[in-house]
Amino acid sequence: EEHLSSNLPLRKKKVLITAGPTYEAIDPVRFIGNHSSGKMGYELAAAAHAAGAEVILISGPTHLQNPNEDIKLIRVQSAMEMFEATTKYFSEVDVAIASAAVSDYRPRISATQKIKKSSEIMELELVKNPDILATLGSARKNQVLVGFALETENEEENAAGKLERKNLDFIVLNSLNDQGAGFKSETNKIKILFRNGTLKAFDLKSKKEVAQDILTEIIGLLNA
Ligand code: CTP
Ligand code: CA
Repeated sequence: EEHLSSNLPLRKKKVLITAGPTYEAIDPVRFIGNHSSGKMGYELAAAAHAAGAEVILISGPTHLQNPNEDIKLIRVQSAMEMFEATTKYFSEVDVAIASAAVSDYRPRISATQKIKKSSEIMELELVKNPDILATLGSARKNQVLVGFALETENEEENAAGKLERKNLDFIVLNSLNDQGAGFKSETNKIKILFRNGTLKAFDLKSKKEVAQDILTEIIGLLNA
């Protein structure tokens, strides 16, 4: 029994993961998006599944395939759709990891027909999207809750603010300034900031190994 549970440390646990970018429609053929590949989230889903968890992966548009047919993959386009799917499943999970690069704003109006060009200056009115992770942070009961932060300046201070505001157990920092790390890369160099202020720095690794490091921290919290 002891030995079985250490082989599959997430056996009988449900893990929800958000991944990828969101696309915010401007009209039927245009959108606001970002360069997130979704890779980190899909690696987290694969690693959680391998550790015995039941996994729900809520993904924005990516070219990635479902890492395993036993993973429940829910594909969405916009932040609003990601919000709906995530809040629908949150109450039934033990762990939620928000790795998605959610668009902070969406066009106030999404045109039903393709917009024609006209004047020299075109203005697009944007409205704020709901903060999915902060919503989970307010609603959470016993779930372990993990976020990501991508910062280009004052990274530790900004990440600490997000950890607090979104009521997380820990936040994973990845700096765009680090060589070989970031959105399109196969590798990542992370730091993890915990509630008690502890900061753990990790080496540059493949996203698969980074996913394993993050899960190890989550398993530690579940067993604490
Ligand atoms: N996040 C989310 N919903 C949003 C925006 C962000 O769930 N509408 C989550 C991301 O998935 C990530 C964390 O919040 O886990 C931090 O995202 P980030 O963009 O770094 O922070 P913001 O709170 O959006 O602040 P800002 O972009 O101004 O730095
Ligand atoms: Ca943001």
